[in-house]
Amino acid sequence: MFSVNLSGRVVLVTGAGRGIGRAIAQGFSDSGATVAVNDVDRTTATMTAGILHGDSGVYVADVSDSAAVQGMMNKILADFGRVDMVINNAGVEPRASILDMSDEDWNSAINVNLSAAFYTSRAAGRIMKEQGGGAIVNIASIAGHNIPIALRSGYVASKAGLVGFTRECAREFAAYNIRVNAVCPGVIETEMTAYLRENTAQMAKWLEDIPQKRLGIPEDIVGLVLFLCSDAARYLTGQAINVDGGKVML
Ligand SMILES: NC(=O)c1ccc[n+]([C@@H]2O[C@H](COP(=O)([O-])OP(=O)(O)OC[C@H]3O[C@@H](n4cnc5c(N)ncnc54)[C@H](O)[C@@H]3O)[C@@H](O)[C@H]2O)c1
Repeated sequence: MFSVNLSGRVVLVTGAGRGIGRAIAQGFSDSGATVAVNDVDRTTATMTAGILHGDSGVYVADVSDSAAVQGMMNKILADFGRVDMVINNAGVEPRASILDMSDEDWNSAINVNLSAAFYTSRAAGRIMKEQGGGAIVNIASIAGHNIPIALRSGYVASKAGLVGFTRECAREFAAYNIRVNAVCPGVIETEMTAYLRENTAQMAKWLEDIPQKRLGIPEDIVGLVLFLCSDAARYLTGQAINVDGGKVML
């Protein structure tokens, strides 16, 4: 496993109650960082904090709620005195054809997967600017800028938007020594993709196009996120990097 020393730094990981977010929180904790574990679900967030060994705190908030995000950021700053890194990982994936999708489902995809990154970047950006720097990583998807996925219009639109926002944020925040990048996973074995993976015929077809011939696991995402937050990535900003076993090669 990739190792990096992030001791003395404070990271917020959103949606860290399970799946990819939990693995990322663990990776930061193993790297010595203080981890602010966010989720809308208190039970799972508390479980994640329970497996971390360094300093950590649980911050229950719906990241699609602007005021809740600002309140959470204020609390993290009060608790730990700084915010060095934000990982925008919380996500939802409503499934429906465009003809049948409700306003509520469309809006939840846009608000949780895209607007939340704006809320956290604005709130954390102000703190990082004062501190003299920071790093933001947005967990997008290969569905964002390469591959459309059936019945996921809100999801695909939100993730494409997130890649666009990443670039704009990187451009503006470079003046404050804040780097902003996106990580774009392929299909990773989490609860979000349980439904997809049940369709064995569809999965077999999907696997055919993956040179590494396997789906990803949450731990496959962690190394890149840590690297992007480390000083080794100091000249790297505004990028969207696929972690997908080679599924997309452009
Ligand atoms: N699993 C994949 O194949 C895959 C592929 C590409 C991108 N991604 C992205 O990676 C991220 C994590 O995905 P995952 O597979 O671990 O999903 P998951 O569904 O297993 O976990 C998502 C977590 O986000 C939390 N969450 C949802 N809405 C929230 C909100 N409003 N506020 C705070 N927390 C909220 C959930 O409670 C949950 O703990 C998502 O952004 C997802 O779109 C996943």
